[in-house]
Amino acid sequence: MRRMTFLLAALVVVLSCATASAGQTDEIPTFTKDIAPILYDNCVTCHRPDNIAPMALLEYTDARPWARSIKDLVVAREMPPWPADPKNSMKFRNERYLEQHEIDTIAAWVDAGAPKGNDADMPPKPVFPEGWTYEGGEPDYVFDLPIEYTVAAEGEEDYINFYSEIPWEADRFAEVLELRPSDFRLVHHSGAYTVDLPWGTQVIDGVLHDLEGNSLLRARLPRRPVEPDEEVEPASAGRVAQRVFNEVNLPGSSKLLSYVPGRGVERHRPGTGKRLAAGKWVRWTMHYNPIGVEATERSKLGIWFNTQPVTHEVLTRQAGNAFPTDPFGNDIYIVQGEEIKPTRDPETGRVRRAQIPNIPSYTDDWKITGITPINEPVTLYALSPHMHLRGKSLRWIVTYPDGREETLLDVPEFDFNWQIHFELEEPLYLPAGSKITGIGVYDNSLGNRWNPGPQLEVYWGQQSWDEMYQAFTEYTVESQDLTKPQPSTNDE
Ligand code: HEC
Repeated sequence: MRRMTFLLAALVVVLSCATASAGQTDEIPTFTKDIAPILYDNCVTCHRPDNIAPMALLEYTDARPWARSIKDLVVAREMPPWPADPKNSMKFRNERYLEQHEIDTIAAWVDAGAPKGNDADMPPKPVFPEGWTYEGGEPDYVFDLPIEYTVAAEGEEDYINFYSEIPWEADRFAEVLELRPSDFRLVHHSGAYTVDLPWGTQVIDGVLHDLEGNSLLRARLPRRPVEPDEEVEPASAGRVAQRVFNEVNLPGSSKLLSYVPGRGVERHRPGTGKRLAAGKWVRWTMHYNPIGVEATERSKLGIWFNTQPVTHEVLTRQAGNAFPTDPFGNDIYIVQGEEIKPTRDPETGRVRRAQIPNIPSYTDDWKITGITPINEPVTLYALSPHMHLRGKSLRWIVTYPDGREETLLDVPEFDFNWQIHFELEEPLYLPAGSKITGIGVYDNSLGNRWNPGPQLEVYWGQQSWDEMYQAFTEYTVESQDLTKPQPSTNDE
């Protein structure tokens, strides 16, 4: 390996000499021989016609006009988009970044005037799947967005939810899922969840309505009765308003997957999978962008059922919300060096979740650390950090019971436009007594070029001008074995 690196370094030296001396033109990298293979391996999944990138990079004539910009972006490691620092993160099976020698080859090619080379050297054209990205054939089952939705030419971004009924009689498990827009230009991002219908609602044509038949597409959900042992603000005594979005942590809700540009397929290991419970609904959360012309969109959710009996259900958890029955303990938050303690209701004695303060105006390097204790052995598969426009950097560390620490993920420059689902190459076993620490840093100063309002105090919320600190993880609980008879859920 070391020898290999040495050879490559030597090659780069030869190349840079070659660019300097006119006589040795055969040493200059050419598009057909040297560059096309790099682009085919690392760029054209997005840079091809009708995909998410603004231009194709398949042919010399596609790439030549972009040569300067290609060099700049690959040298700056902005393309291919992969914000994690590979030197300080675990290995991810979906990682995409160029090796230094590939970057050097591209730079040398551009510096030499981006020559084409011999047609005969051109590698075979990559073959792209038509329709579904997952290469395992047609899905076993396809959910369609319940209606063909029309996105207006201009106006606000549109956040809406649709609901599709899960049609089977007994729970089934998905080993692979793919969420696929019908028009990539329109869908900024989307998500699929399994949910129970919120209290006091029905679904008509895929849209939530109240029981009188009024559409709840944009309205707040009806108020629901307070559960006997539920903690609520005194003002809500009796009934609480339900939030429309992100009920991922409401009882009965569970996240299936997200689509963001460059992502949208989730493959689980055979023997594990996401549960699609009978009697529940698939909730689609769609975030549409106007594109200047009126256009329609109808996403699809492809399901490939498990190929082996499922022993472990893959669960998604959002740090910051502990369930009574989950293997994680209550999260601890440290904001700007100070622990935010949960409060206790003076009357009932019940513990209320810690309230994270807002991010003050004109602040940089505002830091929140979330520590999630692990009370029961789990296996970790993937990490999906999520922040908004003030997100600056993030780092996740695991601490084992013996005190040993390992960095899971290091994103030195967070990029809101690339919300990546980091899939561990090897599932990571975490014994009871471990903890996961997630450090998120925010920049609400003038120095952040994405900042929509440094003069504002930033609240925690859904809109991209609000902030989020979400640490989604995908995991299984070691002790589970779904192939064994399951304890009845009815014997309370
Ligand atoms: C995951 C999808 C994806 C991959 C992989 C990818 N790109 Fe991109 N690329 C995009 C998107 C989307 C944009 C436009 C938005 C942006 O700049 O972030 C873009 C923009 C660019 C631009 C700037 C275009 C402009 O308008 O100025 C260049 C140059 C570029 N990519 C080169 C590359 C190269 C070279 C590779 C491979 C080494 C690559 N990209 C890999 C998605 C991708």
